[in-house]
Amino acid sequence: MNFSIENYDRKYLDGMIELYNKETAFEPYIAPLNPNRFIELVEKKSYFDPTGLFIAIESGEIVGWIHACIAPGSERHHKPENKIPQIRMLIYRREKIKVGHALVSEANNWLKQSDQKKFLALHAQEGYPFYRGIWLGGEPMGMSAMPHVQLALEFGGYKNTQESIMMTAKIDQLPNIYNSEVNLEFITSSTNMAHSPMRESWIGFEPMTTTAVLKDETIGSIGWVIIPYLAERLGAPCLNIWSMGISEPYRQKGVATALVSYVMKTGYELNARFASVSTQLWNIPAQKTYAKLGFIPYQLTIGRTFECK
Ligand SMILES: CC(C)(COP(=O)(O)OP(=O)(O)OC[C@H]1O[C@@H](n2cnc3c(N)ncnc32)[C@H](O)[C@@H]1OP(=O)(O)O)[C@@H](O)C(=O)NCCC(=O)NCCS
Repeated sequence: MNFSIENYDRKYLDGMIELYNKETAFEPYIAPLNPNRFIELVEKKSYFDPTGLFIAIESGEIVGWIHACIAPGSERHHKPENKIPQIRMLIYRREKIKVGHALVSEANNWLKQSDQKKFLALHAQEGYPFYRGIWLGGEPMGMSAMPHVQLALEFGGYKNTQESIMMTAKIDQLPNIYNSEVNLEFITSSTNMAHSPMRESWIGFEPMTTTAVLKDETIGSIGWVIIPYLAERLGAPCLNIWSMGISEPYRQKGVATALVSYVMKTGYELNARFASVSTQLWNIPAQKTYAKLGFIPYQLTIGRTFECK
């Protein structure tokens, strides 16, 4: 092994960012980083622990890094006191598979201090404490288009336990508005983030919620966000939908179609010219809804689980 593994230190930040930007340059739905953006959106989080971020250095050059954390789940249904051991980022030069293997082993040894039996990697199950809004929208997961990352995690004992599909759309003109079978009013406001880990997960972004109201009853909602940094790769900001749900008695009446079309129009008015969403691979109703509005399958995303023996 002719590389060493060091702990995170700001002196490595330029090299880490250069590698990250180079390794993700092919993917316009990943926002590029710069040192300041990393400090503001990643390092400043209360649960950021520099001892869980490992950097591989070969002949003075950074050739990989991995970010492990023991952080609370970011969604409202996660208990803030439950701290979950997770890998949230793995970047390495794809021709250096041994670097990937060594980084995953290092992260695993570090995660063992949690005394938990299960670790997650780039998974959706316990939310998105880091890289939300930066990596493939509001729900960052592992990518099929980075097979070397999948290989390193597989080698480290992480099994594929979740598959999602990311869909994308262009919004190059004012989208058509669809009406549902019922007469709806749409109300948009900043997302209520009384849940503090959720608030922290979104630092640097302004997540919004649009609800569909029938008379006085809320019968559906969408969580969405405009990602300005993607303009650096896509050429315009991107609208990302990070949650959607319709009350069961009102499903299959066109409510989701009406809500998504309304949110796409709102995004267009805020200068978004692209849209993205991820949903479970099995979720045919959601995929049909997005497809109806011009979203096409973009890539598979993968979450992995490691079970300690
Ligand atoms: C997915 C969901 C939001 C769809 O809401 P909805 O208001 O029923 O959707 P719509 O009535 O606007 O239907 C949109 C399209 O999906 C299809 N569809 C909706 N539910 C379906 C089902 N259960 N089976 C097959 N097709 C379905 C509709 O037929 C329609 O397509 P079509 O016009 O080509 O026939 C709703 O099922 C839901 O809340 N599911 C649980 C939460 C969830 O999965 N959210 C998505 C996470 S991203």
